[in-house]
Amino acid sequence: MVTSIRFTRSSVGQKLLMGFTGIFLCLFLVEHLVGNLLLLVDNDGQTFDAYSEFMSHNFIIRTIELGLFAGFAAHIFLGVKLWLANRRARPDRYAVNRASENSALASRLAFVTGSIVFIFLVVHLRTFFVPARFYAESNPSMYDLVRTAFQSPLYVGFYLVALALLGYHLRHGFQSAMQTFGVRTEKYRPVIEFAGVLFWLVIPAVYAVLPLYFLWSHLSGGR
Ligand code: HEM
Repeated sequence: MVTSIRFTRSSVGQKLLMGFTGIFLCLFLVEHLVGNLLLLVDNDGQTFDAYSEFMSHNFIIRTIELGLFAGFAAHIFLGVKLWLANRRARPDRYAVNRASENSALASRLAFVTGSIVFIFLVVHLRTFFVPARFYAESNPSMYDLVRTAFQSPLYVGFYLVALALLGYHLRHGFQSAMQTFGVRTEKYRPVIEFAGVLFWLVIPAVYAVLPLYFLWSHLSGGR
């Protein structure tokens, strides 16, 4: 017990935890995307609503959800802690800013992009998760909630910016996690580079299709 507490307090332990929680959140992104793609099934949201109903009432899913929120909390907490530690360790904090010359820029940008993704997450949960879990009875269907939210070009614009920043965050984060796990060797590099592109480019791009699809349908008078 004491050993595991010491381990999680050490900087190596914290980097590993940061990596594990990050990869766990990446896996959530895949599951969430697959579920969200049901929004595109052409039956006025019946398939998506059935999926959403299942997700919000299944005991196992609700329990996993607690793990998900704990993962987000741990990742954010450790991210802020590591960022503060890096800041303190930088001797030239008040000197000429030579950030672009070293990898500290990437981790500083990871902090900034991560913070903006966090703001996105708060807005996102307020729009969809809170109504789904806390006052579902007085709400339109989940599909209608999504459809209505994405009728606003401003809201869609906010999503697109957040998804681009999420992509940037994952571009650095995924490689950094693999480095920490020690698997970024010559042998595995091509596989890791490929998986990295899936996470930072393909997944955010497919997410972006959803708000754009609803906005386009609305503007062209479809829905
Ligand atoms: C842009 C496309 C997206 C759409 C259409 C979308 C839609 C939704 C919906 C409808 C819910 C409520 C599900 C329910 O409770 O029944 C939800 C929940 C959630 N979303 Fe998203 N989402 C998108 C992108 C994202 C992204 C990029 C992230 C992470 C950075 C994210 C993180 C979450 C989390 C953590 C929850 C609460 C847990 C859950 O219900 O599974 N979402 N989303």
